[in-house]
Amino acid sequence: MASETNLEAETKSPVLSLLKESSGTLPAELRYIQYSHSLEKQYLPSIRALISKDLSEPYSIYVYRYFLYQWGDLCFMALSPTTAYTSPKLIGVIISKLEPHTPPSHSSPTTLRGYIAMLAVSSTYRNHGIATTLVRKAIDAMIERGADEVVLETEETNVPAMKLYERLGFLRSKKLHRYYLNGNSAFRLVLHLKAVEEMTGNNEEEI
Ligand SMILES: CC(C)(COP(=O)(O)OP(=O)(O)OC[C@H]1O[C@@H](n2cnc3c(N)ncnc32)[C@H](O)[C@@H]1OP(=O)(O)O)[C@@H](O)C(=O)NCCC(=O)NCCS
Repeated sequence: MASETNLEAETKSPVLSLLKESSGTLPAELRYIQYSHSLEKQYLPSIRALISKDLSEPYSIYVYRYFLYQWGDLCFMALSPTTAYTSPKLIGVIISKLEPHTPPSHSSPTTLRGYIAMLAVSSTYRNHGIATTLVRKAIDAMIERGADEVVLETEETNVPAMKLYERLGFLRSKKLHRYYLNGNSAFRLVLHLKAVEEMTGNNEEEI
């Protein structure tokens, strides 16, 4: 079932201790809701429209369903205020997943890895902290499910996205040359949610 939260709920967010605060205030009447399958008919067309408007990669309906059927609870939407005459409009969305990840060489232990697949905010609503809130909500949901880390890729030329993620504590882990269909390169970014000793179980005190 979709959960609806107001902005005060932000202050209880466990991820706030891990992530740096953003400044300023958010539009007071904005609503954030968690996606659920029952909302597909109402919101999937707007989710696709919002994401395909700005992202360089064209995604088919199957890509959206791949994420939303399995990890709908890691998708959050920002909705514009409603009035007596208007229904809520989708103005921001984040789509993610969470899976065990085993490094190819088996040199490190398997981790529970969150992945932010898509993030977009309608251009008229940008710079109000909406993406920051969406990312925090997705990360909070991943932490609740025991995530060790969160990764994503973003175009190296996407300054707003790079600034947003780095402000939230993500680090550049790899450059991916000519990663996108348009020939642009990407950075893989990673946010470590647990200390390395905790992930390896190597937390014994030295004698
Ligand atoms: C990247 C993107 C999602 C950012 O969305 P956004 O809602 O504007 O992001 P935020 O408002 O959270 O953060 C943007 C800036 O607003 C500032 N900000 C945050 N909260 C604020 C507030 N309450 N009031 C005013 N400004 C605020 C932030 O400090 C940030 O500035 P900085 O990064 O220069 O320091 C948006 O530009 C977008 O949809 N781009 C197209 C799609 C895309 O590139 N997606 C990412 C692919 S990985």
